[in-house]
Amino acid sequence: MKIFLDTADVKAVRRFAGMGVVDGVTTNPTLLAREGGDPEAAMAEMVGAVAGDVSLEVVSTDSASMIEEGKKLRRHGGNVVVKVPMTSDGLRACSALSSEEIPVNVTLVFSANQALLAAKAGAAYVSPFIGRLDDAGQDGMGLVRDMAEIFENYEMGAEILVASVRHPVHVLEAAKAGADVATVPPAVLEKMLRHPLTDIGLAAFLADWEAARAARAGK
Ligand code: E4P
Repeated sequence: MKIFLDTADVKAVRRFAGMGVVDGVTTNPTLLAREGGDPEAAMAEMVGAVAGDVSLEVVSTDSASMIEEGKKLRRHGGNVVVKVPMTSDGLRACSALSSEEIPVNVTLVFSANQALLAAKAGAAYVSPFIGRLDDAGQDGMGLVRDMAEIFENYEMGAEILVASVRHPVHVLEAAKAGADVATVPPAVLEKMLRHPLTDIGLAAFLADWEAARAARAGK
């Protein structure tokens, strides 16, 4: 399963990309607004920071403007994926952009029927928001499992991009459910790489090494 970073924080992208664990980035207007500064500059930096796909979201709501905005966003780089919302206009824009070989990520997907329509409209990625479904008392991961079954049944080309990830168990469950990608906030990726037994084990190795070195020096 690919791991994308869900952020507009370029420093975080560079830090984790340097570890070789980032396959791409997703961002959204909220994340860009949270960072402050010039969103265009932030998007350009993000696109240059990783070789993989970077989803940049349109803020237009009618299909003609979404298509125009999507084409503008693509000028940031060949790895830009245009993110459109799961609306009728979003599907129209998805179909038009996809037919021009511009990859599209359909976002804000909360049901299997929405996912099916997004895949039929030619989406490269379909993004179920599992954390928000869990927050609403529904089974977010159940949606991912349904999508995996449907996409496999009909050999649909769209990739399942699990979004709205809240904790490392979501990532694990997404991988077990057969998701293609999980997009993960930097704080969750940080938790994924840590384990207290790793820290305890490393401290013990270094202490034993130091004690042996001191003993040799004392002879
Ligand atoms: C994905 O593309 C979205 O940016 C993101 O996962 C939304 O997550 P949230 O529910 O934490 O806002």
